[in-house]
Amino acid sequence: MNNQTICILGLGYVGLPLAVEFSKKYKVVGFDINEKRINELNQSIDHTSQVESEDLKVAIIDGLTFTSEEQKIKDANIFIVTVPTPIDENRIPDLRQLLDASSIIGRNLKKGDYVIYESTTYPGCTEEDCVPVLEKLSGLQMNEDFFVGYSPERINPGDKVNTLTKIKKVTSGSSPEAATFIDELYGSIITAGTHKAPSIRVAEASKAIENAQRDINISFVNELALIFDKMGINTQDVLEAASTKWNFLKFTPGLVGGHCISVDPYYLAYKSTQLGYTPKVITSGREVNEHMPYFVAEKLMRLMLEKEIQIKGSNILILGATFKENTPDTRNTKLHVIIEEFKKNGANTFLYDPLIKEFCKEPMENSYDSILILVLHIQFAELNLTSLLKDKSKKIIFDLKSSRPDNIADAIL
Ligand SMILES: NC(=O)c1ccc[n+]([C@@H]2O[C@H](COP(=O)([O-])OP(=O)(O)OC[C@H]3O[C@@H](n4cnc5c(N)ncnc54)[C@H](O)[C@@H]3O)[C@@H](O)[C@H]2O)c1
Repeated sequence: MNNQTICILGLGYVGLPLAVEFSKKYKVVGFDINEKRINELNQSIDHTSQVESEDLKVAIIDGLTFTSEEQKIKDANIFIVTVPTPIDENRIPDLRQLLDASSIIGRNLKKGDYVIYESTTYPGCTEEDCVPVLEKLSGLQMNEDFFVGYSPERINPGDKVNTLTKIKKVTSGSSPEAATFIDELYGSIITAGTHKAPSIRVAEASKAIENAQRDINISFVNELALIFDKMGINTQDVLEAASTKWNFLKFTPGLVGGHCISVDPYYLAYKSTQLGYTPKVITSGREVNEHMPYFVAEKLMRLMLEKEIQIKGSNILILGATFKENTPDTRNTKLHVIIEEFKKNGANTFLYDPLIKEFCKEPMENSYDSILILVLHIQFAELNLTSLLKDKSKKIIFDLKSSRPDNIADAIL
C-alpha cells in the first residue's frame, strides 16, 4: 500500500491536515485551485492555523508537494476530495465545487484508481451526483475500472486535542474489496481506529446526522433561552439544576454558525424533501437557531434601554468575529445579522478579534456604552472589560458564552 501516490483536492481546514498526515507514510500531492493558498503553503504558511509552520516545513522536506496545476496530479492513484459543500442563498446544496473537483479527477482517472470523498453531503450524493461525472469524463466504469469511497471528516477547527488521527474515522467503499482497501488506508494513519460502514450511503448519512443532531440539541436549549427570557429566569441556572440528573444532556445556548452545523442539516433536509418527506424537527431546529442572532441584538439593546442608554449614536463593542472560539474561521458567523440590527437602530458597532487581521486593533478605554462577547478567544481572558466602558456604573456586558471566570457580565443567554 505504501507505494501509492495520494492526491488531496482542496487544501482547507480539512484537506491540509489530511495531506500532512498521509505524507508521513505516502507520496502526497496537494492540489488546490486557489493559487494564493498554494503559494502560502509552499512558504509553510497556513492561515487556517490548523497546521504549525514547523510541521509544514518538515512535511515539505519529506516530499509533500502543493500545486494548482492539473497535470501534476495525473500520476496519483488515490484521489481524496475535501472541497467546500456550501448552500446557496435559498439554502439549497451548492455542489458546484464538488462537481468541479470530480471533473478534474475524471480527466485524470486511470484503471485501478480510487476516488474518496470526504466533503460533507447528503446520502446518495457520491453515487448519484459525483460518480456520473467521473465516469463521463474518464470513459471508465465504477467497480470495473475504478473504485469510489466516502469517509466523512470529523475535525473540529481550533481544537488542538481532538485532532485528525485521534478521531475514529468512518470509511466506506463502492464494493466490499474497495471498502476494505479504503478502511486499511485510513487505518494506517488514524490511531483512534476506523469504522467500516456497510455502504457509501450509510457513511454519508452518518455524517449528516452527527451535525443535525448537534444542531437540534442546541436549538432546544436556545428555545429555552427564548422562553426563560420572557419569564425572567436565568437559563444557565436552570440548566445547571437540570444537569444534576444523570440522563440530562448538557448543551448550552448560543449562536450556531460555521461551515458544518449551520449548513449540513439543510443538505439532509433537501434530499429528504426531494424524496417526498419534508422534515419537521430538523427544519424547526434550524429556524430557532437562525433566529438567535436577532434575539441577541434585541436583548442587548433592551438592556441598554433599561439602563437609560439611548441606542441611537451609542457605541457597542463586539468581542469575537469568528463563528467559534480560538479559530480564525469566520464562515457563516452570525455577526453581520447582529451588526445590521444595531445599525438599523442607529448604534455604532466596533469589533475586536485578535485572530482577524482587520479587527485586531485593541479596543480603547472609556469608549463604549455596552459590550457583547460573542466568542471567547483565550486572549479575552486578559481584557479588563470595565475599563473599556464609558459609564462604569452602567455595566452592560452581555456574555453569550457566560464563561468569563470573573463573571463580570450582567447578562447571559
Ligand atoms: N472545517 C471543518 O471543520 C469541517 C469538518 C468536517 C467536515 N468538513 C467538510 O469538509 C469539506 C471541506 O471543508 P473545509 O472547511 O476544509 O473547506 P475550506 O474552504 O477550508 O477549503 C476548501 C479548499 O478547497 C479548494 N477548492 C475549491 N474547489 C476546488 C477544486 N475544484 N479543486 C481543488 N480545490 C478546490 C478551495 O480553494 C479551498 O482552499 C466541506 O464539505 C465541509 O463541510 C469541514
